[in-house]
Amino acid sequence: MSVVSGKDLEQLQAHLELQKKLKNPGIIKRKIDKGELLDKIRETLGDCQRCPLSKTRTNLVFGAGDPNARLMFVGEAPGRDEDRAGIPFIGRAGQLLTKIIQAINLTRDQVYIANILKCRPPNNRNPEAEEIESCYPFLLQQITVIQPRIICALGTFAAQTLLETKTPIGRLRGGSHYFDENIRVIPTYHPAFLLRNPNKKRDVWEDMQRVMKLLA
Ligand code: URA
Repeated sequence: MSVVSGKDLEQLQAHLELQKKLKNPGIIKRKIDKGELLDKIRETLGDCQRCPLSKTRTNLVFGAGDPNARLMFVGEAPGRDEDRAGIPFIGRAGQLLTKIIQAINLTRDQVYIANILKCRPPNNRNPEAEEIESCYPFLLQQITVIQPRIICALGTFAAQTLLETKTPIGRLRGGSHYFDENIRVIPTYHPAFLLRNPNKKRDVWEDMQRVMKLLA
């Protein structure tokens, strides 16, 4: 999927505008507050009606955490609890993610958590192409602002979207992947998958140890 194929020209212009500003890191350090930039992206989304998920969602789930985070977690899409609260990863899978974050000696407030899609697909079905096309440019803007060192891609869907590949998560794990020249991607299993397959916890712990090493 191409980043520039989004229907909404306004989104693309905002993304390019941000990239221009961010090319000069002095500007962002001196004059631009990353939190304010994230607020602007949230404002642009507004009461988003760009895809059919707007008809069934309760709340749009923008993302949460530290705008200056060095580590970002990206999941698939909000579930029922997240849709109700407007906050990412707060249901059962989210509680497991919180424990994973604590296991690497961080708190949810010290990382940034978001999803590929900002609205819940009905019955948690898989995201559809047009939904990704409308929504993903906004996550790209968030990443452009936050500039994390590492993006931990949670599950097949996030990893395949961020890395623009169809390779299964089991083969992406443990590899050396980059979102761009400065941002590493560490793919790992989704916490919801871990709840169903606790034998995979060891693999996730290995991935988190890589995250810790890269952050050190
Ligand atoms: N699963 C996800 O991928 N994201 C959430 O926010 C919650 C559950």
